[in-house]
Amino acid sequence: MNRFYLTTAIDYVNSRPHLGTAYEKIAADVVARYRRLAGCDVHFVMGNDEHSQNVFRKARELGEEPLAYCDRMAAEFLDVWRRLDISFDDFIRTTEPRHRAGVQELIRRITAAGDIYEGHYEGWYCVSCEAFKQEKDLVDGLCPIHRTKPDWIREKNYFFRLSKYQDRLLKHFSDQPDFLTPEIRRNEILRLIEGGLDDISVSRAGQSWGIPMPQDPSSVVYVWFDALINYISAVGLGTDDALLAKWWPADLHVIGKDITRFHTVIWPAMLMSAGVALPRQVFGHGWVHLKGEKMSKSLGTVVEPLEVIELFGADPLRLYLTKEITFGSDGDFSWERYEDRYNVDLANNLGNLVSRIAAMADKYRGGAVTPVGRSGRLAELARQALEDYRNAMDAFALEGGAAAAFRIVDGANEFIASSEPWAIARDPARADELSQVLFDVAEAVRIAAILLLPVMPKSSAEILRRMGEQRPAGALRLDDAVWRNEGTRQVLKGDSLWPRALTVPAGAAEVTGYPPQATVTPANSNKDRRPRVDETSRTTPQPPVPAPAPAPAAAPAAAPAGADRISIDDFMKVDLRVAKVLTAEKVPNSRKLVKLSIDVGTEQRTLVAGIADAYEPEQLVGRTIVMVFNLKPAKLMGIESNGMVLAASPDGGKPTLVGFDQDVPPGARVR
Ligand code: MSP
Repeated sequence: MNRFYLTTAIDYVNSRPHLGTAYEKIAADVVARYRRLAGCDVHFVMGNDEHSQNVFRKARELGEEPLAYCDRMAAEFLDVWRRLDISFDDFIRTTEPRHRAGVQELIRRITAAGDIYEGHYEGWYCVSCEAFKQEKDLVDGLCPIHRTKPDWIREKNYFFRLSKYQDRLLKHFSDQPDFLTPEIRRNEILRLIEGGLDDISVSRAGQSWGIPMPQDPSSVVYVWFDALINYISAVGLGTDDALLAKWWPADLHVIGKDITRFHTVIWPAMLMSAGVALPRQVFGHGWVHLKGEKMSKSLGTVVEPLEVIELFGADPLRLYLTKEITFGSDGDFSWERYEDRYNVDLANNLGNLVSRIAAMADKYRGGAVTPVGRSGRLAELARQALEDYRNAMDAFALEGGAAAAFRIVDGANEFIASSEPWAIARDPARADELSQVLFDVAEAVRIAAILLLPVMPKSSAEILRRMGEQRPAGALRLDDAVWRNEGTRQVLKGDSLWPRALTVPAGAAEVTGYPPQATVTPANSNKDRRPRVDETSRTTPQPPVPAPAPAPAAAPAAAPAGADRISIDDFMKVDLRVAKVLTAEKVPNSRKLVKLSIDVGTEQRTLVAGIADAYEPEQLVGRTIVMVFNLKPAKLMGIESNGMVLAASPDGGKPTLVGFDQDVPPGARVR
């Protein structure tokens, strides 16, 4: 019962992976990694769907042999999947001999059951969908998905008696209410089956690119009939009975909502006919949109995953797609939103938390944190989050799982702000209290990192290492995310995990696929690499691209409104941050200057500010201020000041500090 076999759809290889196809692989990978974390023996299979006419045409267009083209594309797909850290166990290509054996075996069984017969098909065929279309499926005579006119074809076809399986399919849907999720997809398909099923063509005549029909090698197997069988040929149908016995039936097919009919009507009927057990569950996820349109190569609305991970590696993208899109619904990708989430969730929240606890553990306890009493409220928060996480992930609410982990992160940040370890540290009598606070934060971060392992495998493993977790990330299980108020942890400092650095230039969001610039380049990314040009898509028509707004510097001299203004890039050079005042004292022999030590989230600093005539030092301690973080140090009355406090200075009046009307954690950027 502990095994879990899951698959994704296999991709057409007439173009490179885009963020939409990558989304499915990332989501399935999060499920696979979660099941491993939960202790299952997981088998995760992905692959390429190579016998499509589009693939054949593309290869010919490029003057390549179809198989050589598919080999080249397979290498490109595998490269993308590896760079996204997709942990598949097997990758099947439909041109492989093991797949051909599986297809022919299943078709032989279906034929033996009397469910395949010869006939003629005359009607529409959309090559982009690789689907036979009825008049009622078209909108204004066009395929509604690809907005192209389908081909009218008339040819000898072999047909599959799908109509025979209507009742058995309805029964299956009623016996196994979870067979197709989410509910909305299940309802759509149930209506479709209840409406009656027609027999379907399962071969194409006059084509050489495909697997020959066992009963008539002059026809090839229809590409969908061929492709669906990958799920079972990958685990040995027709080639390896022991493997088949180990993994079939599949536990989960993760597929897009556009292809649920193939997976939950045709595929189960094929298996019923062949006398083979049905997969346990199909999950039909939603689409990733770019500016409200399905991301699609044929529509020219794509962002390439490699462009996105160019900047900060795979984990921020994996987090965005998991946490920001409700699994099962459609979701949007935009560079601006990506920047926003990166800065909030990673640079500011999680990244800051990891730096703060490491800095404090190092400063106050030489890195070694040991509990000395009972854990505080973070322990209960983490317990509840773990429970929520399990429930969400078991129900494929991946966004809920990620959110539960981030509740711990938020809780730990709030806990630091309210317990004020720097204040406790000033009182030697409170040493035990400080030890426990530091331990609690480190333990909370450790638990959050375990829960995030499926979503952000590399960075979570690094966080675990920094929190003193001794075991390798791959050996950890969900039970290790139970709070342990024991032992000494050696917490380690390290480079900032996610420098706050992602900024979208003005106007960029208007441009399809315009990558933002990294203003600071982390060590693990290659700044000089240009975004990839897709060799295979040069002929794809692109939608009109609006020109980015001209930079103010380029504006005509006659434009008075813009003449004395700076660009957003100029403004962004000033790094304004929220900080909390820890101590304040008057600078001797100065009427105006006060010396402050402040917490900027990632570090503590000394500042000298000219506000002593407006504020008493004790009024300043504990106050949240805004400072210029990247100002060059300057000496004032012999004290080095590292930054500048922002205050409004009305003419002739005393300075008033810039503040907020609600709590903002130290380190937050102001802009
Ligand atoms: N080859 C078929 C699947 C055969 S499975 C036996 C196919 N290939 S595809 O390359 O067009 O799509 C692969 C998967 O990516 C499908 O599940 C599809 O729904 C999904 N997506 C394609 N575009 C997508 C988005 N924009 N967003 C989310 N998923 C998308 O269909």
